[in-house]
Amino acid sequence: MKRMIFKWAVVLVAVAAAGNMLWAQPTVKSGFEKLDRWTEKCHQERPRTLGYPCNQVSMALTGFYNWYTDNRMENFLINNAGDPFGKVGALSSGEFEREVIEYFAPKYGFSNDDVWGLVTMSGTDGNNHGIYFGTNYLKHTTGKEPIVYVSDEAHYSNYRLCDLQNLDVRLVKSDDMGRMIPDSLEAALDTSRPCLMIYAMGSTFKGAIDDQTALNCVLARHPEMAVYRHIDAALFGGYLPFTKHRDLVDRRKVGFESISISGHKFFGIDSPCGLFITTREIYDNQTTFDIPYLNANMRMINCSRSGIEPLKFWWLIQAVGDKGWTEQATQMLECTAYLKQQLNGIGWRCWSNDYSNTVFFTRPSDEIVNRFNLANSNDPRFGGNLSHVVVMQHVTREAIDGFIRALKAQ
Ligand SMILES: Cc1ncc(COP(=O)(O)O)c(C=O)c1O
Repeated sequence: MKRMIFKWAVVLVAVAAAGNMLWAQPTVKSGFEKLDRWTEKCHQERPRTLGYPCNQVSMALTGFYNWYTDNRMENFLINNAGDPFGKVGALSSGEFEREVIEYFAPKYGFSNDDVWGLVTMSGTDGNNHGIYFGTNYLKHTTGKEPIVYVSDEAHYSNYRLCDLQNLDVRLVKSDDMGRMIPDSLEAALDTSRPCLMIYAMGSTFKGAIDDQTALNCVLARHPEMAVYRHIDAALFGGYLPFTKHRDLVDRRKVGFESISISGHKFFGIDSPCGLFITTREIYDNQTTFDIPYLNANMRMINCSRSGIEPLKFWWLIQAVGDKGWTEQATQMLECTAYLKQQLNGIGWRCWSNDYSNTVFFTRPSDEIVNRFNLANSNDPRFGGNLSHVVVMQHVTREAIDGFIRALKAQ
């Protein structure tokens, strides 16, 4: 009996320690009052951030920062200007960047014999490359300017970037759940010009995945029209490869030319970054800029690029890897089902798309929206005001129980 009590005491201390580590409080003062107040606020808000696609319990970078500061890496500039697939400069982490691309490329169905990519500054930067590369590829191979087709529920960065790149855009209507409607695509197509297709995976508020198979069938009815497909998979492209739904992001199964994924969403990198991955054929059909003082001709949009984010990505591959990401993805999808079940249990109207970790529901009071940092929208087809929760790694069953208690008490 005594031994059993001891065993449970050890377990409880371990759980408490893990909990403390998870939500550790600030212990070191900076000497700047304003900064210290802000640090405390960040620590308080973190467990209650339910409305945004951020992994707030990524602890795997603590070892990275220990290595970084112990070696005084903060005193260097590591700049990845240049092509990670070319000869990389001395103070560049380009060789790690290339390994990151080669680790992820097969997860999206690219072959490492025929891949090109880079660690981007964000999901938006990845979409910028997708749109720019797609436009150049279509212009080089057909001599014509493409038209961009994107759903009216896709992330706004896509419309902004088309505006920035001065492209013709057709916004294609989506259905109630946020998926592009194949018949609306058919009606919008101008087959006299090439088609630059952007597929949303998933859409920002409802977490909808465009049905690539059905939409590809529409495109296939027009073989005279050249097509480039870019996938905006900022959030879903992180976790889907680690689930049984991985075929949805496998270009061998669905067919696409490039993909953009954010590094600071599912993967939990603590500053904006991402992945852009495409094929050598697409790379070979870009506008070239031969820059003698850099390692190759520059096809990517930016000159200076962070050398630190590729190192963080590389570190996470070693520290978390397939096993850790599979566990995290499984937990997220289980907790998404749990959240829906609990909302249904209290009679709160809610909806979610297949394969999605986003649940949207009738908007609660402003106080609850603010307390849990929910994101809002409005759609008369679902009764008007809505909010959503994105079930990321820190949105555990306990966090969900706390949220449901608050809804019941409102
Ligand atoms: C579907 C989608 N695309 C693009 C973006 C923009 O990504 P980032 O914030 O990394 O620039 C987001 C951000 O939430 C998103 O959800």
